[in-house]
Amino acid sequence: MPITDIHTHLVFGVDDGARTLDDSIAILKAEKADGVTRIIASSHYRRNMFEPKLETYLNNFELVKQEAEKLGIELYTGCEYHANLDMVDGLRSKRHLTMANTNCVLAEFANGSEKSFIKERCYALLSNGYKPIVAHIERYQAARKDINLVRQLVDMGCYVQINSQSVIGEDGFLAKQYCKKLINEDLVHFVGSDTHDVASRHPTMGKCMEYLSNKYGEDYAEWLMINNPQELIFNRRKG
Ligand SMILES: [Fe+2]
Repeated sequence: MPITDIHTHLVFGVDDGARTLDDSIAILKAEKADGVTRIIASSHYRRNMFEPKLETYLNNFELVKQEAEKLGIELYTGCEYHANLDMVDGLRSKRHLTMANTNCVLAEFANGSEKSFIKERCYALLSNGYKPIVAHIERYQAARKDINLVRQLVDMGCYVQINSQSVIGEDGFLAKQYCKKLINEDLVHFVGSDTHDVASRHPTMGKCMEYLSNKYGEDYAEWLMINNPQELIFNRRKG
Protein backbone atom coordinates (compact mmCIF):
# COMPACT_ATOMS: atom_id res chain seq x y z
CA MET A 1 0.00 0.00 0.00
CA PRO A 2 1.56 3.34 -1.05
CA ILE A 3 0.84 5.22 2.15
CA THR A 4 1.90 8.86 2.53
CA ASP A 5 3.01 10.09 5.95
CA ILE A 6 2.77 13.88 6.16
CA HIS A 7 3.95 14.33 9.76
CA THR A 8 7.42 13.05 10.78
CA HIS A 9 10.53 14.10 12.65
CA LEU A 10 13.00 11.94 10.80
CA VAL A 11 15.55 14.50 9.67
CA PHE A 12 18.38 14.15 12.15
CA GLY A 13 19.96 16.88 14.24
CA VAL A 14 17.27 19.56 14.02
CA ASP A 15 14.67 18.83 16.71
CA ASP A 16 13.72 16.15 19.25
CA GLY A 17 13.32 13.50 16.56
CA ALA A 18 16.18 11.58 14.95
CA ARG A 19 19.56 12.52 16.39
CA THR A 20 21.89 10.87 13.88
CA LEU A 21 21.71 9.75 10.27
CA ASP A 22 21.50 6.17 11.58
CA ASP A 23 18.38 7.15 13.57
CA SER A 24 16.89 8.61 10.39
CA ILE A 25 17.65 5.41 8.49
CA ALA A 26 16.05 3.28 11.24
CA ILE A 27 12.84 5.36 10.97
CA LEU A 28 12.88 5.11 7.18
CA LYS A 29 13.17 1.33 7.38
CA ALA A 30 10.27 1.14 9.85
CA GLU A 31 8.16 3.36 7.58
CA LYS A 32 9.04 1.17 4.59
CA ALA A 33 7.99 -1.95 6.52
CA ASP A 34 4.71 -0.15 7.23
CA GLY A 35 3.97 0.38 3.54
CA VAL A 36 4.88 4.07 3.45
CA THR A 37 6.29 5.31 0.13
CA ARG A 38 6.07 9.09 0.54
CA ILE A 39 7.04 11.15 3.55
CA ILE A 40 7.00 14.83 4.42
CA ALA A 41 9.86 15.62 6.79
CA SER A 42 7.98 18.07 9.01
CA SER A 43 10.66 18.96 11.55
CA HIS A 44 9.69 21.26 14.41
CA TYR A 45 10.02 24.99 14.42
CA ARG A 46 9.14 26.29 17.87
CA ARG A 47 10.51 29.54 19.21
CA ASN A 48 12.87 29.18 22.18
CA MET A 49 12.75 25.41 21.85
CA PHE A 50 13.50 24.21 18.33
CA GLU A 51 15.07 26.83 16.13
CA PRO A 52 17.22 24.94 13.64
CA LYS A 53 18.91 26.90 10.89
CA LEU A 54 17.09 26.35 7.62
CA GLU A 55 20.44 25.58 6.01
CA THR A 56 21.14 22.79 8.54
CA TYR A 57 17.69 21.32 7.95
CA LEU A 58 18.13 21.40 4.17
CA ASN A 59 21.62 19.86 4.34
CA ASN A 60 20.49 17.04 6.61
CA PHE A 61 17.31 16.60 4.58
CA GLU A 62 19.40 15.94 1.46
CA LEU A 63 21.40 13.23 3.23
CA VAL A 64 18.23 11.55 4.51
CA LYS A 65 16.61 11.90 1.08
CA GLN A 66 19.46 9.91 -0.51
CA GLU A 67 18.88 7.11 2.02
CA ALA A 68 15.12 7.26 1.44
CA GLU A 69 15.62 6.86 -2.31
CA LYS A 70 17.62 3.68 -1.73
CA LEU A 71 14.53 2.30 0.02
CA GLY A 72 12.12 3.51 -2.66
CA ILE A 73 10.68 6.29 -0.48
CA GLU A 74 10.12 9.82 -1.80
CA LEU A 75 10.96 12.50 0.73
CA TYR A 76 9.58 16.06 0.71
CA THR A 77 10.46 19.10 2.78
CA GLY A 78 8.13 20.50 5.41
CA CYS A 79 7.82 21.97 8.86
CA GLU A 80 5.62 21.63 11.91
CA TYR A 81 5.27 25.27 12.74
CA HIS A 82 4.38 26.01 16.35
CA ALA A 83 2.02 28.94 16.06
CA ASN A 84 3.31 32.38 16.98
CA LEU A 85 2.37 35.93 16.15
CA ASP A 86 4.98 36.29 13.38
CA MET A 87 4.28 33.06 11.57
CA VAL A 88 2.94 34.67 8.39
CA ASP A 89 6.12 36.76 8.10
CA GLY A 90 8.24 33.67 8.70
CA LEU A 91 6.52 31.88 5.83
CA ARG A 92 6.47 34.85 3.47
CA SER A 93 10.15 35.51 3.93
CA LYS A 94 10.78 31.76 3.29
CA ARG A 95 12.60 31.45 6.61
CA HIS A 96 10.17 28.62 7.35
CA LEU A 97 8.84 25.95 5.07
CA THR A 98 5.36 25.04 3.97
CA MET A 99 4.43 21.41 3.30
CA ALA A 100 6.08 20.01 0.16
CA ASN A 101 6.29 23.53 -1.29
CA THR A 102 2.50 23.90 -1.35
CA ASN A 103 0.49 26.63 0.36
CA CYS A 104 -0.32 24.21 3.22
CA VAL A 105 1.21 24.81 6.65
CA LEU A 106 1.30 22.18 9.40
CA ALA A 107 0.33 24.38 12.36
CA GLU A 108 0.95 23.18 15.89
CA PHE A 109 -0.50 24.65 19.06
CA ALA A 110 0.24 24.13 22.75
CA ASN A 111 -2.03 21.56 24.37
CA GLY A 112 -3.57 24.31 26.49
CA SER A 113 -3.92 26.98 23.78
CA GLU A 114 -7.09 29.03 24.00
CA LYS A 115 -9.82 28.44 21.46
CA SER A 116 -9.66 32.11 20.41
CA PHE A 117 -5.89 31.92 19.79
CA ILE A 118 -6.21 28.80 17.64
CA LYS A 119 -8.97 30.37 15.56
CA GLU A 120 -7.20 33.71 15.22
CA ARG A 121 -3.89 32.16 14.09
CA CYS A 122 -5.66 29.93 11.57
CA TYR A 123 -7.55 32.94 10.27
CA ALA A 124 -4.27 34.86 9.91
CA LEU A 125 -2.84 32.04 7.78
CA LEU A 126 -5.98 31.70 5.67
CA SER A 127 -6.29 35.42 5.04
CA ASN A 128 -2.70 35.47 3.80
CA GLY A 129 -3.17 32.66 1.31
CA TYR A 130 -1.96 29.75 3.44
CA LYS A 131 -3.99 26.67 4.24
CA PRO A 132 -3.51 25.47 7.82
CA ILE A 133 -3.32 21.77 8.54
CA VAL A 134 -3.96 21.73 12.27
CA ALA A 135 -1.48 19.21 13.70
CA HIS A 136 -2.71 16.42 16.01
CA ILE A 137 -5.88 18.27 16.96
CA GLU A 138 -6.85 15.44 19.34
CA ARG A 139 -4.22 16.72 21.80
CA TYR A 140 -5.66 20.16 22.37
CA GLN A 141 -7.82 20.66 25.43
CA ALA A 142 -9.93 23.30 23.69
CA ALA A 143 -10.80 20.82 20.92
CA ARG A 144 -11.36 17.94 23.34
CA LYS A 145 -13.72 20.01 25.44
CA ASP A 146 -15.71 21.31 22.51
CA ILE A 147 -15.79 19.57 19.14
CA ASN A 148 -17.50 22.68 17.77
CA LEU A 149 -14.08 24.28 17.60
CA VAL A 150 -13.02 21.61 15.08
CA ARG A 151 -16.23 22.15 13.09
CA GLN A 152 -15.58 25.88 13.03
CA LEU A 153 -11.96 25.43 11.90
CA VAL A 154 -13.04 23.11 9.08
CA ASP A 155 -15.78 25.59 8.07
CA MET A 156 -13.15 28.33 7.96
CA GLY A 157 -11.15 26.22 5.49
CA CYS A 158 -8.62 24.45 7.70
CA TYR A 159 -7.53 20.87 7.32
CA VAL A 160 -7.33 18.60 10.36
CA GLN A 161 -4.59 16.05 11.07
CA ILE A 162 -4.63 13.36 13.75
CA ASN A 163 -1.85 11.01 14.80
CA SER A 164 -1.87 7.34 13.87
CA GLN A 165 -0.85 6.38 17.42
CA SER A 166 -3.94 8.17 18.74
CA VAL A 167 -6.20 6.45 16.21
CA ILE A 168 -5.06 2.95 17.16
CA GLY A 169 -5.10 3.57 20.91
CA GLU A 170 -1.36 3.84 21.64
CA ASP A 171 -1.88 7.30 23.09
CA GLY A 172 -4.61 6.30 25.52
CA PHE A 173 -8.29 5.48 25.46
CA LEU A 174 -9.54 9.06 25.53
CA ALA A 175 -7.46 10.08 22.51
CA LYS A 176 -8.73 7.02 20.65
CA GLN A 177 -12.36 7.81 21.51
CA TYR A 178 -11.95 11.42 20.46
CA CYS A 179 -10.41 10.42 17.12
CA LYS A 180 -13.34 8.10 16.54
CA LYS A 181 -15.72 10.99 17.13
CA LEU A 182 -13.81 13.20 14.68
CA ILE A 183 -13.81 10.48 12.02
CA ASN A 184 -17.51 9.79 12.50
CA GLU A 185 -18.23 13.49 12.00
CA ASP A 186 -16.03 13.56 8.90
CA LEU A 187 -13.72 16.15 10.42
CA VAL A 188 -10.38 14.49 9.58
CA HIS A 189 -8.33 15.17 6.43
CA PHE A 190 -4.97 13.62 7.24
CA VAL A 191 -3.36 11.03 9.49
CA GLY A 192 0.35 11.33 10.25
CA SER A 193 2.63 9.18 12.35
CA ASP A 194 4.38 12.12 14.10
CA THR A 195 7.21 9.61 14.44
CA HIS A 196 10.28 10.75 16.37
CA ASP A 197 12.12 7.42 16.78
CA VAL A 198 11.68 3.67 16.55
CA ALA A 199 11.01 3.30 20.30
CA SER A 200 8.01 5.00 21.89
CA ARG A 201 7.09 7.41 19.10
CA HIS A 202 7.55 4.89 16.34
CA PRO A 203 5.87 4.72 12.93
CA THR A 204 2.38 3.18 13.05
CA MET A 205 0.89 4.08 9.68
CA GLY A 206 0.56 0.43 8.58
CA LYS A 207 -1.24 -0.56 11.75
CA CYS A 208 -3.49 2.48 11.44
CA MET A 209 -4.32 1.66 7.81
CA GLU A 210 -5.36 -1.83 8.88
CA TYR A 211 -7.41 -0.49 11.79
CA LEU A 212 -9.23 2.08 9.62
CA SER A 213 -9.89 -0.49 6.87
CA ASN A 214 -11.48 -2.86 9.37
CA LYS A 215 -13.51 -0.19 11.16
CA TYR A 216 -14.54 2.15 8.34
CA GLY A 217 -13.87 0.18 5.16
CA GLU A 218 -11.01 0.12 2.69
CA ASP A 219 -12.29 3.05 0.65
CA TYR A 220 -12.20 5.42 3.60
CA ALA A 221 -8.77 4.19 4.74
CA GLU A 222 -7.37 4.62 1.24
CA TRP A 223 -8.86 8.09 0.88
CA LEU A 224 -7.42 9.23 4.20
CA MET A 225 -4.00 7.60 4.13
CA ILE A 226 -3.20 7.34 0.42
CA ASN A 227 -5.25 9.56 -1.87
CA ASN A 228 -5.73 12.72 0.14
CA PRO A 229 -2.09 13.16 1.20
CA GLN A 230 -1.00 12.27 -2.33
CA GLU A 231 -3.21 15.06 -3.65
CA LEU A 232 -1.65 17.42 -1.16
CA ILE A 233 1.79 16.68 -2.57
CA PHE A 234 1.06 16.34 -6.27
CA ASN A 235 -1.84 18.63 -7.00
CA ARG A 236 -0.36 21.37 -4.91
CA ARG A 237 -3.93 21.61 -3.69
CA LYS A 238 -5.25 25.03 -2.93
CA GLY A 239 -8.88 24.28 -2.24
FE1 LIG B 1 5.15 16.52 15.42
